[in-house]
Amino acid sequence: MKILMVGSGGREHALIKKLKESKKATEIFCAPGNGGIAKDATIVNIGAMDIDNMVAFAKDNAIDLVFVAPDDPLAAGMVDAMEKAGIRAFGPNANAAIIEASKVFSKNLMKKYNIPTAKYEVFDNPQKAIDYVVSENTVPVVVKADGLALGKGVIIAQTIDEAKDAIKSIMEDKQFGDSGNNIVIEEFLTGPEVSVLAFTDGKTVKPMVSSKDHKRAYDNDEGLNTGGMGTISPNPYYTEEIAKECYDTIFVPTIKAMEQEGRPFKGCLYFGLMLTPNGPKVIEYNARFGDPEAQVVLPRLKTDLVDICEAIIDERLADIDIQWYEGATACVVMASGGYPLAYKKGIEISGLNENGGVDGAVVYHAGTKLENDKFLTNGGRVLGVTAKGDTLDDALNKAYTAVGKITFDNAHFRKDIGKIK
Ligand code: AMP
Ligand code: GLY
Repeated sequence: MKILMVGSGGREHALIKKLKESKKATEIFCAPGNGGIAKDATIVNIGAMDIDNMVAFAKDNAIDLVFVAPDDPLAAGMVDAMEKAGIRAFGPNANAAIIEASKVFSKNLMKKYNIPTAKYEVFDNPQKAIDYVVSENTVPVVVKADGLALGKGVIIAQTIDEAKDAIKSIMEDKQFGDSGNNIVIEEFLTGPEVSVLAFTDGKTVKPMVSSKDHKRAYDNDEGLNTGGMGTISPNPYYTEEIAKECYDTIFVPTIKAMEQEGRPFKGCLYFGLMLTPNGPKVIEYNARFGDPEAQVVLPRLKTDLVDICEAIIDERLADIDIQWYEGATACVVMASGGYPLAYKKGIEISGLNENGGVDGAVVYHAGTKLENDKFLTNGGRVLGVTAKGDTLDDALNKAYTAVGKITFDNAHFRKDIGKIK
């Protein structure tokens, strides 16, 4: 099979490495890819949002399976466009990807179908939103832009003034553009966070092994929220008992709700959960694999990923047995100093071998480019250095040993990935 991966980050690199293990995969393309991905796939110079050219490329090259990994092209209908052109594509249609693309949609869905989540109100008017937070007078309070905002559209306001500022910057100054036309104001929840990615064909849902992301930029969960600075799998808080509860009260009801709304979700649905003192609740849904969750979950997948993709497209996920490796995985993200704010690009990375790897670990490239056979930084998150072990400690030791071999000017990584408080 000829496979086309859409996207350019560490998640896409991890997906490609897993797809390469499949006996069915004969050729893998990636658009637009990155320097490290170029060692594992044929790079195609088409932007991830360029739906027309992506469809044309898939047709011209007789692609058998297109895998749309990022949120934006999913929300913009790339899977719909591929299907219309008769090309098989993995990922939700736009009418289902809305579960991530609109927080107003997802919150209203959860309310309608009694899926546990934080209490909330929706506003399309900044003054009404301000009046509401003043009258409630409860902090912290969470202010969320409705639409996609590169993971930055959530502000946890510690004071009423901070909440007012957040409302103004999202709704009046349009910090996130039209994503801030509507906002959700919600109750602040507490408890450990768990990411659970799940395969679903719209009827059956099969959760993958759990993981834990580390979203803040600095150690001890300080600094700004990022796309994710590191992950571990499994998540030590996610016991079998909690998994069962989540399956019954969250996963199955969500899939049924989407089906009932006439928006069956096919692909990978990401459940961002918080294990609150009142039980597990949904913090957010994503319509895709998480990044860097994919980097720790996929190495543990034993079953052929191409078989799973095909079963999902053909709506026969119930018939396939999905198996996982025991043990644990850890991923440490090496970022450019300054990320998630301004950072430099084009800095030479040393310590990587010719294939962009390092002994004892798998290096997923997130933001690199290849120039004259050298890897240069080309993004905020640069590398996801990942290792497997019999235990979490083992995986972490291996990942950090590998990180120690790689250097670039102003590299930043968290030293406390997987250190559970
Ligand atoms: P999101 O982009 O919705 O995942 O939010 C980013 C992060 O903000 C989450 O990973 C949580 O750590 C935090 N967060 C979001 N909503 C809440 C909430 N209702 N209560 C507490 N923390 C939250
Ligand atoms: N790591 C969080 C996300 O992919 O949204």
